[in-house]
Amino acid sequence: MNNFSYKNATQIHFGQGQIDKIREEIPAGSRVLITYGGGSIKKNGVLDQVHAALRGFTTFEFGGIEPNPHFETLVKAAELVKKESISFILAVGGGSVIDGTKFIAAAALYPNDPWEIIQTYGAKVTQAVPFGSVLTLAATGSEMNNGAVITRAATQDKLFFFSDHVYPQFSVLDPATTYSLPPRQTGNGVVDSFVHVVEQYVTYPVNAKVQDRFAESLLLNLLEDGPKALENPSDYDVRANLMWTATMALNGLIATGVPADWATHMIGQEITGLYGLDHGQTLAVVLPVVWQYKKAQKREKLLQYATRIWRLTEGDEDARIEAAIEHTRQFFERMGVKTRLRDYNLDKSIITAVVQKLEAHSHVKLGEHADITPADVAHILELAL
Ligand code: NZQ
Ligand code: ZN
Repeated sequence: MNNFSYKNATQIHFGQGQIDKIREEIPAGSRVLITYGGGSIKKNGVLDQVHAALRGFTTFEFGGIEPNPHFETLVKAAELVKKESISFILAVGGGSVIDGTKFIAAAALYPNDPWEIIQTYGAKVTQAVPFGSVLTLAATGSEMNNGAVITRAATQDKLFFFSDHVYPQFSVLDPATTYSLPPRQTGNGVVDSFVHVVEQYVTYPVNAKVQDRFAESLLLNLLEDGPKALENPSDYDVRANLMWTATMALNGLIATGVPADWATHMIGQEITGLYGLDHGQTLAVVLPVVWQYKKAQKREKLLQYATRIWRLTEGDEDARIEAAIEHTRQFFERMGVKTRLRDYNLDKSIITAVVQKLEAHSHVKLGEHADITPADVAHILELAL
């Protein structure tokens, strides 16, 4: 196992009815800005619950944060924070609203052009307005990590930043808020969580038993409960297990002391930036072909994955690896997330554009060995047509 330091700064309140806890978490007298997306929280009653919990506080609202949140929208919210002397922000929504709020919180106190936050990957962020979240979509892990992915719509740049100043102070995880998710978002969320786990697990062995077995438990939960959430959207236990699995998949814990891949995410981000596919959709397309392309380098962990997740214990090793990749693809399809570029009306003409974006972003050495070059990405995407 490699050396590691581990920190997490987010208080979690998990379970039905926990939205009330935000009262205790937000300092008395705060001027609170509620940030949200396209309005799902109005339809499913979550916004009403939030207002009930915030009685007595001075509140403001900023809605309209897009999926794959836009820099252009978020800077307007940062202006509102300054104008109204907001002292606490409450993000209510999925990963996009929480990521967007991380950016708003940092940008409101940033002395220079806020795009610099993204260009420097968050390295220059020294402070942020405190914020918490009420999560309504199990997927990204943003509710308990210090990362955010932001899109500059004008240039189709989808990029990320990290800062310890943007851990949510608290996050409320009430699984009942996810009953109203459309099947497409439930599927995306399961695929996203699954890919977070495997990007930190299907690399090369470093004898990290806790991290490996923890990662495997998360994968088995997703395989078991993902399809059940599509069949029974209002099954509390299913939603609860998916929600906590998604959070644990990307709160830094399984990343400790192990190598990480992230090539699928880096390629997927460019596809979303350019063509607007959902985050989960890009991952379902790219992951199987990254594995296909790098199966020699990932051999030992792919075999471990085949054995422990898919119970493929007998026969030729190469055939077991192939079967494990195929089972993974089929699982994504079963979750309703298509796994070929053609399913999204994209063809090989996209390859040059994706590669150029990766180069423009200097993301030219991807994967756990930093050996996936733009030329390799072109080959990988050829496999995804
Ligand atoms: O905008 P509203 O009206 O709320 O609707 C949203 C949106 O249309 C809807 N939704 C959310 N909760 C709902 C609901 N609809 C009904 N009932 C509910 N309870 O779902 C749609 C998608 O929401 P979004 O927040 O975009 O989805 P997700 O949570 O998958 O977030 C995706 C974003 O997170 C980034 C992605 O790149 C993408 O921009 N990621 C963030 C990460 C992080 N911070 O660590 C890591 C991830 O790898 C990912 O990159
Ligand atoms: Zn992701």
